[in-house]
Amino acid sequence: MDYPGYLRLRELLSLQALESEKQGKVAHDEMLFIVIHQTYELWFKQILYELDLIQSIFAGSNVDDADLGRAVHAAERIVKIEQLLVGQVDILETMTPMDFLEFRNLLIPSSGFQSEQFRLLEVRLGLKREARLPFNDQSFDASLSADARKHIAAAEAGPSLRDQIDAWLARTPFLDKGGFRFREAFENALDAMLAHDMGQIAGHPHLSQTEKDVQIASLEKSRAMFDGLLDDARYAELRAQGAWTFSRKALQAALFLFLYRDEPAAHGGFRMIKALMDIDETLAIWRLRHALMVSRMLGRKVGTGGSSGYDYLRATADKHRAYNDLFAIATFLIPRSALPPLPEEVRKSMRYRYEG
Ligand code: HEM
Repeated sequence: MDYPGYLRLRELLSLQALESEKQGKVAHDEMLFIVIHQTYELWFKQILYELDLIQSIFAGSNVDDADLGRAVHAAERIVKIEQLLVGQVDILETMTPMDFLEFRNLLIPSSGFQSEQFRLLEVRLGLKREARLPFNDQSFDASLSADARKHIAAAEAGPSLRDQIDAWLARTPFLDKGGFRFREAFENALDAMLAHDMGQIAGHPHLSQTEKDVQIASLEKSRAMFDGLLDDARYAELRAQGAWTFSRKALQAALFLFLYRDEPAAHGGFRMIKALMDIDETLAIWRLRHALMVSRMLGRKVGTGGSSGYDYLRATADKHRAYNDLFAIATFLIPRSALPPLPEEVRKSMRYRYEG
């Protein structure tokens, strides 16, 4: 056992074969281009490895508390890796468009569209085929090898992490415990809060009637928005339109975990949700950074994979998101001071008990 042997450095360091060198004229920046892409693929491998662990934890019908801690830890690791991936763009941007032109044509028709691991990552996180932006009337896996397409199909057939999280959230206890009905208690607290706010606006000494009308209309709009999550029929309507993708039960549980996250039994769940949002957001930041880098490298040229380049990539930062629903929960948060207090029986069941 030694350092080069363990790390297989002889093989690893012989894997940077410059196409420009093969053509007899070394383009200096091609080495950086290869090393950067290879390190991305290595980090994708690590992210998929962490996803294996997280998905195995959420695979069963019960998630043990200790396992939830391990899942959160792995998810937070993924976020750190993604942050590094965003940072790597800075290094690649030290290559100027002119430097890139020295070897770009040698790469045609290879393209990021052929990264199997990136597609696996998207599918496993929960991005659905039908939610993807179309490009050139091709399916998203059309440029992959037949083998890679099989792997993608297998990942699509299994539950994604998003599906598993949906099922796990829907099983959250405490929402209907004893005489406690979270949805009812929350709606009552909400109505009391809005009535109080309306009263304050109506009696405000410095607002004109027009200003009051605007404020009151905005409060009424908020109430209608809350129905989008709390009212079964309205929720079903919105889900059919694609505005929600998670089940109503799961989202109400997510809301519960957001609101009562200080209770020990809610804390792990809240941290998991937060880590998933961080994973989603940091991936979107990478997509945006990559798109901006592409625009400075290529201007308005089409990509080597045939896409519109910048316009397509930029749009994916907005549209290729698997956890948008969790971000939407913020719409429904109310101040801590307006939170319905948990009945003692529920509160007790959410606290640590030492029975020594
Ligand atoms: C000079 C640097 C780069 C340029 C000019 C570039 C350009 C492009 C373009 C134009 C596309 C759209 C597909 C196409 O038409 O080819 C694309 C997609 C992609 N690139 Fe890059 N890229 C660069 C660096 C990177 C790096 C370092 C990675 C790291 C893995 C990467 C990963 C990807 C991935 C995963 C896609 C598919 C994205 C999607 O469909 O959402 N690219 N790239």
